[in-house]
Amino acid sequence: MKKILITGVLLTLLLSSCEKEDKKEPFIGPKLPSNFPQPAYDLSANPVTEAGFALGKKLFYDPILSRDNTIACADCHISFAAFTHPDHPTSHGIDNLFGKRNALPVQNMLWRTSFFWDGGVPNLDLVPLNPIQNPVEMDESPAVVLEKLRNHPEYPGLFREAFGSEEVNTARFLQAMSQFMAMLVSADSRYDHYVRKEPGGEMSVEELAGLAVFQQKCAACHATDLFTDQSFRNNGVIDDFSLDKGRAEVSTFSEDIGKFAVPSLRNVAATAPYMHNGKFKTLESVLDHYAGGGVKDSPTLDPLLRQSDGTLGIPLSTAEKAQLIAFLNTLTDETFLRDARFAQ
Ligand code: HEC
Ligand code: HEC
Repeated sequence: MKKILITGVLLTLLLSSCEKEDKKEPFIGPKLPSNFPQPAYDLSANPVTEAGFALGKKLFYDPILSRDNTIACADCHISFAAFTHPDHPTSHGIDNLFGKRNALPVQNMLWRTSFFWDGGVPNLDLVPLNPIQNPVEMDESPAVVLEKLRNHPEYPGLFREAFGSEEVNTARFLQAMSQFMAMLVSADSRYDHYVRKEPGGEMSVEELAGLAVFQQKCAACHATDLFTDQSFRNNGVIDDFSLDKGRAEVSTFSEDIGKFAVPSLRNVAATAPYMHNGKFKTLESVLDHYAGGGVKDSPTLDPLLRQSDGTLGIPLSTAEKAQLIAFLNTLTDETFLRDARFAQ
């Protein structure tokens, strides 16, 4: 189970909007892409201001959030890798400890209906409490974090700029972190320009063929322009769930054992390694997995990976694999990956 403190008091604090009336600055964004659905996050309850975003960014990059002041959020979420951790199959945190899961991208968080591979956290505002308290990530108590921020030479002033007074409290801390993460919108890939019929949206014959294969064989789960239907599925990556039961860690239902959140495929060329346990280093090996090679059978394996003749996986020819790779590469959004507003 996720170690997380969703107390009544905290929720009341989060839901109250009394924090905002002192904010002087205008709403700075983000711009909502026309090809995306409606966001799940209520931006009107926590509008992004220049000062709130700047505070959230400073916190995201500051190891002060960890017990020994060595690990920042940004150590595992690196901007040029769509805020994932390159070369790390599973997370690498405090005291050189390793977790059991691959860092997820922090992008388009406004649209997520639940967070983490098991969907254990329902609201973006509650996400930071999880890595902060996780004993193999930052291993710190939120109360101590707030105390460190109160005694810091700069933070009280930054809280004043963002929220009108120097008070450092949980709700403000979490709102500032959400303001930074809310701005991390990736919707400027060549594919986006193509679907929005904008200049710079030219797709090659190979890429368009890949899009057609994708729509036929992948889009049932990697749905909409977010490239996820936000459900939990078992795509046959593992069949031994003793280390990680996936969605069942939260729901405790046996029918959820082995199901993991369908990840978005935006910027997927920049987010290797792949899957909840970082099993695959390349997109080619992911496609070889789907094409049957390594799909592991188990009671919750998704029916889409079980063909009518009993074979496992999704049939893909060599040509289709090449087309899919070409298409997946059009989801890379260099503007986002190199956006100086988001990098340290
Ligand atoms: C030691 C590495 C590490 C650190 C430090 C870390 N994260 Fe993560 N992050 C991960 C991993 C691993 C996951 C996936 C965890 C899971 O699914 O159980 C994750 C998941 C997330 C997600 C969920 C994304 C989604 O689509 O569900 C968000 C948001 C996030 N982290 C933000 C943060 C913030 C904010 C901080 C700092 C307070 C932080 N992370 C610190 C490794 C880390
Ligand atoms: C039955 C639903 C389903 C279908 C169909 C499906 N996927 Fe997935 N996909 C998932 C799930 C669930 C995961 C994560 C599984 C895990 O980590 O255990 C995933 C993970 C991935 C990843 C790794 C992403 C990352 O950031 O780690 C890629 C790449 C991917 N799928 C591409 C595809 C392609 C290409 C197709 C079509 C050939 C496809 N998927 C079809 C459900 C599906």
